[in-house]
Amino acid sequence: MTDLTVLSADSRTDATWWRQAVVYQVYPRSFADSDGDGLGDLPGLASKIPYLAGLGVDAIWLSPFYPSALADGGYDVADYRDVHPQLGTLADFDNLMTVAHGAGIKVIVDIVPNHTSDLHPWFAEALASAPGSAARQRYIFRDGKGPDGSRPPSDWISHFGGSAWTRVPDGQWYCHLFAPEQPDLNWDNREVRDDFLVTLRFWADRGVDGFRVDVAHALAKDLSEPLRSKPTLEDHPSMPTDGTDPLYDRDEVHEIYREWREVFDSYDPPRTAVAEACAPSSRRALYARPTELGQAFNFDLLAADYDAADFRAAIAFCLSQAAASGSSSTWVLSNHDVVRHATRYALPSGTDLDEWLMSDGSLPRADEEAGLRRARAATALMLALPGSSYFYQGEELGLHEVADLPANALQDPIWLRTQNEKKGRDGCRVPLPWHHEGNAFGFSTGHAWLPQPAGFSRAAVAAQEGRSGTTLEFYREALRVRHQLQTAEDLTWVESDDPDVLHFTRPGGWHCLSNFGTTAAPLPDGVVRLTSGQHQAGVLPPETTVWLTEWAPLG
Ligand code: GLC
Repeated sequence: MTDLTVLSADSRTDATWWRQAVVYQVYPRSFADSDGDGLGDLPGLASKIPYLAGLGVDAIWLSPFYPSALADGGYDVADYRDVHPQLGTLADFDNLMTVAHGAGIKVIVDIVPNHTSDLHPWFAEALASAPGSAARQRYIFRDGKGPDGSRPPSDWISHFGGSAWTRVPDGQWYCHLFAPEQPDLNWDNREVRDDFLVTLRFWADRGVDGFRVDVAHALAKDLSEPLRSKPTLEDHPSMPTDGTDPLYDRDEVHEIYREWREVFDSYDPPRTAVAEACAPSSRRALYARPTELGQAFNFDLLAADYDAADFRAAIAFCLSQAAASGSSSTWVLSNHDVVRHATRYALPSGTDLDEWLMSDGSLPRADEEAGLRRARAATALMLALPGSSYFYQGEELGLHEVADLPANALQDPIWLRTQNEKKGRDGCRVPLPWHHEGNAFGFSTGHAWLPQPAGFSRAAVAAQEGRSGTTLEFYREALRVRHQLQTAEDLTWVESDDPDVLHFTRPGGWHCLSNFGTTAAPLPDGVVRLTSGQHQAGVLPPETTVWLTEWAPLG
């Protein structure tokens, strides 16, 4: 059993806790179900806090748990200041805060400001009101083009496929950069801005330690007439890097976050925030300025091939950006939007993941053993880097993507909106296995909302706990040792003769060596503090990361 008193000795008032934190992302509907309805919930999560404390994470980030019609897994929020009834109540949330804080774990909540759900009372009011009304001006309503207005007002496209405009019965159109059930808010409207400040305070007053800001780069839009053309998504290579794109990463978005920072800083300790900002890489650091959100996700490692040169370039770039903004870097290998990293690394480099998913995960064949070996090596490398690491639930179990979910189980709007051409993200959202046998592998006494594969039995928490060499015990050990070794946020590269080996040191004589190659390399002298694979004296095995220190191990 975890000793909660030791963990809670961490300073709750340390204003810089986030700079080198390990943050564990919880997808609440898939974490633990307490009432047998097949959907994970807040009491289920609260009951697993000892597990997370035992894992050694500093914070949890909760994907949306608000009332929602689940048109986009909860990123369609109908009420920003309540809990979805199937996930619990505000009292359950408060209890979760108490239990998490009691275990020394901070809590970050996801805030979704770019769009509401179409079930949000504001949108209902907008639909019931006349074109041009104040209620419509909270969203982005326009007349259509053509003599009868039957063509969308612009060529903007939705991330989930199709046009970003949907027509309403009176003939006007509204903008949605995601699903039609996610109408975009009009952030030029002061009322919208003020309402979000109230929402931030609502959760900060309940004690949340920070916010993850969804689609942080899309709030400010150029809505001047005529609407400008933008027939591509934001990460298209031709996107301007001077803040003048009509829809994404506009300079004006930063005014919004400067205002949010005033709210964050009015608390002690100040609330933290991390931007999901898919901006051109040279501009991501703007969101992470201390006067704004303070941190921004870097998806560079996630996007890199399992390759030493690619990893080194990504690390060097992210560290330089963090230094430029005064933030600390963030590192991510998996989240609820991407194919799990154990699976990505199991596939030949360059595999089109959407196509692979459409083959039910059979073509090309995933080498799951190699994928997990590389994933563990990459995770150990990530955890040795200065800055904060963001985990996604289940990666500590070495879970693979569930690539062969039956078509009738798929829930991601991408599946529908692309007319079944892309499966989307359900394969990484399958409920966690807690027990190696029994109903839903211990996730629920009911029917899990996405079917779990038989292989989850081997990966279950109960199958790994206390068994040396398992991925779960490797993660626990990595976090325990990281806590001992982590000091200042400096990193020095040690040049290696082998292009497949990355070697860097951290203050205090902490060495991290990662061999991305398929042949063993020599391991310098030192005390081995962690290995992602087999331990062999003097050897750095292929596709393995080792942490060394220069002094005798701590007690
Ligand atoms: C973010 C979320 C993703 C969601 C989208 C729209 O990218 O991570 O899951 O679909 O925003 O809210």
